[in-house]
Amino acid sequence: MSTPSAPPILDFSPIYGEDGEAKTRLVEEVRKCCHYNGFFQITGHHVPLELQRRVMNCSKRFFDLPLEEKLKIDKNLNSFNRGYELLRSQMLEVGTGPELKEGLYIGEEIPEDHPYFLQKKLNSGPNQWPQAVPDTEEFQKTTMEYYRAVFELAKDVLAVLALTLGVESSYFDPLTAGAVATMRFLHYPAQPKDEDEILNRGIGAHTDFGCVTLLLQDEVDGLQVLDAPTGEWLDVKPVPGAYVVNLGNLFMRMANDKYKSNTHRVINKSGKERYSIPFFFSGNPDYLCECLPNCRESGEDAKYPAITVQDMVTASYKESYGRAEKYKKEMETKKMDELPAVAAVGA
Ligand code: OGA
Ligand code: NI
Repeated sequence: MSTPSAPPILDFSPIYGEDGEAKTRLVEEVRKCCHYNGFFQITGHHVPLELQRRVMNCSKRFFDLPLEEKLKIDKNLNSFNRGYELLRSQMLEVGTGPELKEGLYIGEEIPEDHPYFLQKKLNSGPNQWPQAVPDTEEFQKTTMEYYRAVFELAKDVLAVLALTLGVESSYFDPLTAGAVATMRFLHYPAQPKDEDEILNRGIGAHTDFGCVTLLLQDEVDGLQVLDAPTGEWLDVKPVPGAYVVNLGNLFMRMANDKYKSNTHRVINKSGKERYSIPFFFSGNPDYLCECLPNCRESGEDAKYPAITVQDMVTASYKESYGRAEKYKKEMETKKMDELPAVAAVGA
């Protein structure tokens, strides 16, 4: 992989089959991707296409709601990161404007008497469901059915990652038991063609915080991965039914930087609205992330001290949201009462 190459599309089905050689080849492909930039796409997994279609339909139904309805479940109304996130709330890339995306944060249903809620664990609390969405019952059912299906897939991906490290496929069981994951319905409005590309990002260049991300894209492109050696941005083509899998900062840290958490961004230049559903797998909040087996050359030290999933992910969130807040305050003090214009969507 010396010339810049977009993330390969890997058939994941050998993981579920009996063909040992095919499985070994897949594990080898995944290992190469982890060393190169930590990105690959997978087909042949167990999440049904039909369920993916239903959940995308839920996402669109949600974003079609009037703003006042969406704001009733504003995620700023709770401390556990569930609910609606307005356009321009987050800012991941220094030197760009707040981002042209809106989102709905969903996770495991954690009632208020659950130990995770009581102990204020990462993103843990009841989901904030929109009341005005057509067929609310189906909306919640499909969303959670999809969440659980992708959670299972994340466990399968971690089992393969364990194999790439030369350890048992069950190695990450203590990380996946009681794991916290966040799913986001995302909507990127169409950016007008002549808008300033430097300032306007669907998502600015960033790396993901957690262990591993599984992303479902619709048919509209816009996701790009940085080829670090050349500085080139590579398009991650939407493939129907496939997941874009990428490692996050936490995994890179555990792998002593041998595996990569790579920079990526979204610029929606298509002229169309874009929808995607990333699933961020953080892990059990109390899991202690230490240097993984076989990630050190002989005599090499672990680069990082051990840290819990909880501490690592909380610190990353604070940083990125702090940046957006600071930017907005600066804009206010400059008496610029309006941020750069955005395409009116569904208005
Ligand atoms: C993210 C992300 C890509 C996309 O949410 O971290 O990189 O296509 N999303 O929405
Ligand atoms: Ni990302």
